[in-house]
Formats: sequence, structure tokens, C-alpha cells
Amino acid sequence: MQLAGVSLLLLQLWLLLSGFVAGRVTYDQRSIVINGQRRILISGSIHYPRSTPEMWPDLIQKAKDGGLDAIQTYVFWNGHEPSPGQYYFGGRYDLVRFIKLVKQAGLYVNLRIGPYVCAEWNFGGFPVWLKYVPGIRFRTDNEPFKAEMQRFTAKIVSMMKAEGLFEWQGGPIILSQIENEFGPLEYDGGAPARSYAEWAAKMAVGLNVGVPWLMCKEDDAPDPIINTCNGFYCDYFSPNKPYKPAMWTEAWSGWFTAFGGAVPSRPVEDLAFAVARFVQKGGSFVNYYMYHGGTNFGRTAGGPFIATSYDYDAPIDEYGLLRQPKWGHLRDLHKAIKQCEPALVSSTPSLISLGNYQQAHVFKSSAGSCAAFLANYHSTGDAKVTFNGLQYVLPPWSISILPDCKNAVFNTAKVNAPVVQAKMTWAGGFDWMSYNEETSADQDRAFTKVGLVEQLNMTWDSTDYLWYTTEVDVGEGEPFLKSNQYPTLTVMSAGHSMHVFVNGQPAGNAYGSIDSPKLTFSGPVKLWAGSNKISILSVAVGLPNGGEHFETWNVGVLGPVVLNGLAQGKRDLSWQKWTYSIGLKGEHLGLHSLSGISTVEWAGVNPRQPLTWYKAYFNAPAGDDPLAVDMGSMGKGQVWINGQSIGRYWPAYKASGSCGSCSYAGTFNENKCLSNCGEASQRWYHVPRSWLNPTGNLIVVFEEWGGNPAGISLVRRTLDS
Ligand code: GAL
Repeated sequence: MQLAGVSLLLLQLWLLLSGFVAGRVTYDQRSIVINGQRRILISGSIHYPRSTPEMWPDLIQKAKDGGLDAIQTYVFWNGHEPSPGQYYFGGRYDLVRFIKLVKQAGLYVNLRIGPYVCAEWNFGGFPVWLKYVPGIRFRTDNEPFKAEMQRFTAKIVSMMKAEGLFEWQGGPIILSQIENEFGPLEYDGGAPARSYAEWAAKMAVGLNVGVPWLMCKEDDAPDPIINTCNGFYCDYFSPNKPYKPAMWTEAWSGWFTAFGGAVPSRPVEDLAFAVARFVQKGGSFVNYYMYHGGTNFGRTAGGPFIATSYDYDAPIDEYGLLRQPKWGHLRDLHKAIKQCEPALVSSTPSLISLGNYQQAHVFKSSAGSCAAFLANYHSTGDAKVTFNGLQYVLPPWSISILPDCKNAVFNTAKVNAPVVQAKMTWAGGFDWMSYNEETSADQDRAFTKVGLVEQLNMTWDSTDYLWYTTEVDVGEGEPFLKSNQYPTLTVMSAGHSMHVFVNGQPAGNAYGSIDSPKLTFSGPVKLWAGSNKISILSVAVGLPNGGEHFETWNVGVLGPVVLNGLAQGKRDLSWQKWTYSIGLKGEHLGLHSLSGISTVEWAGVNPRQPLTWYKAYFNAPAGDDPLAVDMGSMGKGQVWINGQSIGRYWPAYKASGSCGSCSYAGTFNENKCLSNCGEASQRWYHVPRSWLNPTGNLIVVFEEWGGNPAGISLVRRTLDS
């Protein structure tokens, strides 16, 4: 006993010295070691471009007050390198400023460089121009891809070093991540995938960041990289080597919303239970994904069909307000865990059975501290258990934390934090003017090709929109001209939505879904004798963010495009001459911008017209409550304020799914904890305060379907006191 105590002391001394001498963050089997100290670290994801720099200090402070030690963020390549070699680190992409603010607050940073990030972010964070690098194949053993990935990763690392942001430099970054959830792909991808994963690991380690590298969901992560867990629960997880600590990089606090999907949530009791369960098994790093989800401003949402809100049911809501009781209950959990830290970092737990479904995990340090976690895994009924001669009542599916092995200071199912409702209240309407968009390819910018083109090849994702226009000659003798049994037009598209116009008149629209982005339009078209113009506006709704072979993904009308019901029977239009134009005329004129707004004549409003631009001026509502625009009366489109894109809106896409009863007791089922079924997936769209002037703000809406702008209003988000 005496000897064990002495050797532990020596070990601690050695750790202290090595931490000090090397000046680096290290790890052992128990935890991350910072300056010689093993640490139980609680972290939370806040993605800097999903809020504004003006919001960052408050979000970070709220994270700190919530008991977090660290902030985790991905690095968003396509935001930082919009075209090859042209870097951008300003505004919401000011990564250095964000990290420095975290440091100022006294928190650490877990920097997930990726640079593939998934994250429901457009194209998984890859710049779309990467798709057009000759010979590229994504996320596999491919030289052009590896060269670009290495260049960007090295660029970020050297930037962090130059700013002194790694821990050994006195900065806050204690952990870094390369790739993201590559394990499942490696399993499918065979030898090239394996050698890519090995290369990525070596490349990362070669950058000498001086802090441990992580690879999440990558069982094969080569030494010294730590493989980590992502999921709703991670208590089953062990790292791939006994000398690596158990780390949970994504503890999902909720889930994302897709247009057309119901709104997910996760009860805090279950989240707290999952975290306590991980820690009692020896887990030493937990990161909430997301702690603040925020907003997919502009065209940053991935998917396709990811909503503009990335609220995620996170402890801090999309608008930066505390979500209670979630935030408070987790704060209480963190406090209880922190009280146990000396015992937790000193030992592996010993396990005591307290009943069929009940267990105690006990941690003891040589200095005499003792902490216990008492768990009840049964999903119904309280359990009465005896531990160390004392009686405890454990609610179903819960864990009590005893930082002194006696007093239960916290139970995951007993929520003491207050329940606080957020509400949206009317804060102003708008006086609209309108401008009609073209209903076919814009002649001034048009180009023609024989056959159908892939959309991304044309747009490089500079816009959601691509026009496909063609002519169809109809002979005087066509029988349908008399019978009014109009021919049927069938248009097949690889994604994601489309509007069809015939001779300038709307003929209908079609759209896919998150589960099946492909779509087919099929409907009667009123053709007349002579020449007819068929125009299809193909609309992308965010590029896929998950998977491999990004080089093969397609968007747009790839065909066939067929007319049925003519005298000749069927006429295939796919291989005739098509006229294209990239983007909308209004986009080209910059109608959404402060400088472009007056390039056209605006008229009075004729509601329910498809393809219409609206503009209005307004004053900022007084005070500093967060704001949103209520787009409930609209169909689908985009909205800008003072030239800043609030994002895509699509309240007309109603949430499908079954909104079940969401119980916390028992394994979490994300298909049950859903709300908004039959309603808009997203009705309110965050307007950051800092984008507004006191008076004379410009709001511009581009409506595709034909909503009623009279129903749009500004709303305040407040918390019930
Ligand atoms: C994970 C991924 C994250 C995010 C999450 C779902 O698998 O690593 O980037 O996409 O799923 O929100």
C-alpha cells in the first residue's frame, strides 16, 4: 500500500515534469494530461460560422457558466477558401478571433480540422471547386485529393502556430482532429481506403502540432492518434489501445432538422444519464454535439434539404438563449462530475452489483478521495439500493453521483433547473414592393448546348439556380389542340427541386427529400400550335455532406425529359437543343444587395406570384432580444437583410413523420422525440441583431412558389420568466 502510494507520487511527479519539460498536452490510459495533470474534460461544440462574431463572447461565456472546460469546433474549408488559393478569414469565418475569445474566457479548444467535416454543412466542408481538380477522387488514396487536403490542413496548423494558439505556446488548443468518421468508409473501401486513413494520420502527426490528434469513429486510428466515439451513448466504447483514454467527441444533444422533416429533441434526463454512464465507465472527455447549434446562414446548409436552423435542441438555443432546463441540468451534472475529478482521474472504477439492474462504480484515490456513481438501468420504477450501508432511491434509467461516496449530490433524472418556455412575439410588419423574375433562361446571359447538362458542372455552386429552356414545335393538326387533353411532360432530375414553366406560365413544381433527393415532375402542359417554350428552373437545396466519392455527385435535370400524348406518341426532348442560364436574373443584378437593389423598377405587390422578388425597409425593434422573420405565409426561397443572407426558407415543406411521445426512460429513440408533424419544418429564421441598423434596414425575399408576403413579420424571441 505504502509502496503503491509512493510510486503513484513518483508517476505524478514524472507526469508533471514531462508535461512541463515537453510543454505539451499528452495522454495516458486514463485521460488527457495537461501540464502533468490528468483531466476530466467537458466540452461543447459551437461552430463559429453558425453565429456572428458579436454573439461569440456571450455564447462562450454561457458555455463556461454551464460548466464546460472546452469548446469544440470544426474548421470549414469551403468558407475559408472559396476559390483556390483565395483565403477568407473575416466575419463569421474569423477562426483566430473565435479561438482567442475562447482563450480569453479561460476555456480550451478542440480543433477539428477535418478538413472533411460532414456537419450538415454544404458539401461536408469541401470547396466545390475541389470537385473539378483533374483526376480527383475524394477521401481515398488519390494524389490530387491528398495534396489539397494536406495543403489546407498545413495552412490551418501554421496559422494556429503563428498566432500562438496551441497549448504549449500558451494558447487554448489542446486537441486536434483529422478526418471525420472515416471508419465505416474504410471498412467498405478496402485497401485504398486503408492506405488513405494511414496517410491522413501520418500527415497530421507530421505537422507537429504538439497536442494529441483525434480520429472520431475510426477504430483503426494508428498510434499515437486516439480513436474516439460519436453517438447518443458511448458507454460501450473502448479505444483501440489500452494506453489511450476513452473520449466521446460527439455526445448528440439532439439532432438536426431537415426541410420536410419533424423537429428532433432529446430529453436532458437521458443525455445526462448517457454522460454519467460514460464517465462512470472511465470516460474522461465528453463533448456535446451541439452545445450551441446556431444557424446555417446563406447557402451553407448541406444535406440536401438541411434546414436553415441548426438549433439541434442544444443547451444554448439557435438564438443564443439558454434552453432550460437542459442547460441548467447539464451544468449541475458537470458540477457533480467536477467534484469527483480527484477520485476519477486517480483510478479505474471498481464495480459493485446493487441489484439485477443496479450497479455502483466506485473511484478511489490514494490521497483518500472516494467518488461513486449509483446506476439504475431499468426503464420503469424506482429502485431502492443499499451502498456502503446507506439507502438510496434511484429513479428509472438514472445515475446518482456521490462525490464523497456518501451524499448523492445529483441524479440524472431529477431535474432541479427551471423549465423555461421561449416564445415568439410580433415585432413589426413590412410594406412590400415587388419585381417579377424571368420565367425562362435569361437571354442576355444564355448559352446553348445539345442535350441536358449536370447542374454543378455549370454553376460550381455559385447559385442554387440553373435554367433549362427548350422549344417544342406543335403542328396545327395535333388532336389535343381540339380535345384539350394536353400532353404530359415528364422531367427527371438528380435533385433537388424544380419549377416548370410553359410559354411563361407556371406548370407546376416538384421536389425531393432528404432521403431521396432525386425527383420527377410529371404533369399536363398547355401547348399551343407553333413554337412553345418549355423552361425548367432547377434548384439545388444544399449539397450532400456525408459519404465518399463526392466527385460523382450530380444535381439537376439529367433527363430524360419526355412529352407524351402527341400524335406521334412520345417525343424525347433530352437530346435537342437547350438554352441555359446560370442563376436568376435578380441574382445577377444583385437585387439582394444594397448596391443592386435599385437597378430595377419595383412595383406594387400581386401576392401568390411564383418567382417574385420582394423588398421592404424597416426599423430595428427596440431592445436587444434576438429577432427572427416569421416566413409562415411563404412557400420556398431565400431571404436577405441588408445584403446578408439569412438563408433558405421553406415553410411550405411540412414535417412528415410521427411525433411520438418522448420518454426519457429507456434507450433513446430519435424517431420518437419529434415535434411539428404536419406543420412547417421551419417557420422562423434568425436575424442576427448585429446585421441591423437602428433605422432603414432593407429586407429582400426571393419567393419561388408564390407565397403571400403580407404574412411576413419580424418577431422577438423572449424567455418566459
Ligand atoms: C456525425 C458527424 C457530424 C454530424 C452528425 C450529425 O456523424 O460526425 O459531423 O454530421 O453526425 O449531426
